[in-house]
Amino acid sequence: TKETIVLGIETSCDETAASVVRNGTEILSNVVASQIESHKRFGGVVPEIASRHHVEQMTYVVEEALNQAELSIEEIDAIAVTEGPGLVGALLIGVNAAKAIAFAHSIPLVGVHHIAGHIYANRLLKEMDFPLMSLVVSGGHTELVLMKEHGSFEVIGETRDDAAGEAYDKVARTLGLPYPGGPHIDRLAQEGTPSIKLPRAWLEEGSYDFSFSGLKSSVINTLHNAEQRGEVIDAKDLAASFQESVIDVLVTKTKRAVEEYHAKQLLLAGGVAANKGLRERLQETFGEDKNLELIVPPLSLCTDNAAMIAAAGTILFEQGKRSGYALNANPGLVL
Ligand code: KG4
Ligand code: ZN
Repeated sequence: TKETIVLGIETSCDETAASVVRNGTEILSNVVASQIESHKRFGGVVPEIASRHHVEQMTYVVEEALNQAELSIEEIDAIAVTEGPGLVGALLIGVNAAKAIAFAHSIPLVGVHHIAGHIYANRLLKEMDFPLMSLVVSGGHTELVLMKEHGSFEVIGETRDDAAGEAYDKVARTLGLPYPGGPHIDRLAQEGTPSIKLPRAWLEEGSYDFSFSGLKSSVINTLHNAEQRGEVIDAKDLAASFQESVIDVLVTKTKRAVEEYHAKQLLLAGGVAANKGLRERLQETFGEDKNLELIVPPLSLCTDNAAMIAAAGTILFEQGKRSGYALNANPGLVL
């Protein structure tokens, strides 16, 4: 049988990435040019700066991905590109690069949803077994996604306000930690004890939705109140308490969803999947479960990359999806 070689391109936020993947499962190259250093001093991603970096890096990153895969562009069967959601100016660079290459070499083009990409990062480790549940936790999204077959995504719960990663970054900022704050809170939390009482937003009975803004405000208030009383709060304990609250809600709702939908696999996805505490708790909760296979990608496949876009694009391509040259960046694209 003929193999499918897909070039993936991802520019939705602050990583310029290109990757070549064989048959949607095997990484031949995975190149990521991070811009974090350029955004750090502003305490977050500056859209204009992100776009500029993407323009500068795009050609180099694509060439490098082909070089590392030891392939020429003529050997590529399809180009998969993130069409949304994300920063519109950032997305536009990837979409236009993909269209230009596709047009110049008459290669089929496939637009990919960024979250579908995060979920499909798991297929680079293990074949999917349906129905499956994916817990997507990133800087922009917190979702429980049910998949009954390839290419079909049912969002059964999502955040009503801040995404988990967003809450991590805001809490980190309040504690004076650099951007992105998630890894710093995670590190502090390992050294602290969850001794400070913080809320958990369970929402209505049976709801799979999430809410993290109340927790975030509660952390900020706890700090300010202590400051006013002239007390010092241990940042490690506060980080541990915050992390405990986030993980409690994420894992409890995930467990209920996995049971209700009889999921055969649980796939972790998105940048917050790098969280050590979350990975440990998932392992404790599901690691011994005979009826559920827990898949946790390595850190390099949890944060934004193009291999995941190529992996998701391969399935869409094999299912016959094609995006014309009218493909446009769609910052609000729904899954
Ligand atoms: O998926 P991602 O790379 O970009 C988006 O699509 O949003 O996720 C980035 C987010 C940031 O909010 C970052 O703080 C968070 O993932 N993050 C973490 C950890 N590593 C990255 N959050 C908690 N613990 C971590 N170890
Ligand atoms: Zn992402």
